[in-house]
Amino acid sequence: MSTVEPGIARHYDVSGLEQHILAVLADTGVDVANLRASDLETVDEFHIGGIAATREVIGQMGLKPGTRLLDIGSGVGGPARFAANSAGVDVTGIDLTQSYVDIASSLSKRVGLADKTLFVQGSALEMPFGNASFDAAMILHVGMNLPDKRKLMSEAARVLKPGGVFAVYDLMRLKDGALTFPLPWASDGTMSFVATPDDYRSSATAAGFSVVAERPRGAFAVEFFATMRARMAAAQAEGKKPPPGVNLIMGENARTKIANLTAALEGGILAPVELILRLG
Ligand SMILES: C[S@@+](CC[C@H](N)C(=O)[O-])C[C@H]1O[C@@H](n2cnc3c(N)ncnc32)[C@H](O)[C@@H]1O
Repeated sequence: MSTVEPGIARHYDVSGLEQHILAVLADTGVDVANLRASDLETVDEFHIGGIAATREVIGQMGLKPGTRLLDIGSGVGGPARFAANSAGVDVTGIDLTQSYVDIASSLSKRVGLADKTLFVQGSALEMPFGNASFDAAMILHVGMNLPDKRKLMSEAARVLKPGGVFAVYDLMRLKDGALTFPLPWASDGTMSFVATPDDYRSSATAAGFSVVAERPRGAFAVEFFATMRARMAAAQAEGKKPPPGVNLIMGENARTKIANLTAALEGGILAPVELILRLG
């Protein structure tokens, strides 16, 4: 285990998170005793763009029913459940944060997807899977916590079958400029390893991947947060509670984390970038 990992797992760990999510959803009228995967959509996709972004990524992967998909850094399981539901794939998620693994497993059980999604604790940089175990892999907003992109790519290449697709959707650095912490993935600079698209590309090709497609999504990201702010303001103006959103997962200082991230996005320093890779 790398020395930064325990601190990163503590950064993400929010006590009582599953009960909090269920309570907030119940408050908006969701029947949490008969939960559906779609009820969770606004809160279980921990990346910019939520389910719309996941749909875009998965749509480029050519997944077929029965495909064995690996979700690296699976969080509380939203992207894995969406892939299982929309593409009929069998998903294994791996995540560093034990409480997220537990919540992801529990939520999948609640929505009847326990047989299509399996979540295990472990590091992206040393995965407990045999060689060529998966047909496809994805990583959504996780690389910012990984100090070694070459190791990420060599691990992904090791566990994928030849010809396997690896979809990356990470926040990347597009230009120089200081980042202000906390950010959603890091309480301070010791946990943050944001890299450039060049770094990702060169690490990927060194591991045997070829680049199929690349798309920066900066404008999409800025719009996502503008829409979120407008929805919050509208609810406040009407004296209503704010609608449930990804901020639920980010703990008490969610507002500061989002403000700092929005500044970096609006300044063009960071942007989410999609990178579709194929092994061989
Ligand atoms: C911003 S969240 C994204 C979660 C999920 N991919 C999603 O989009 O909903 C980042 C996730 O990366 C996980 N993570 C951070 N470092 C990791 C590592 N070394 N190995 C595996 N997971 C890691 C965290 O625990 C957290 O769940």
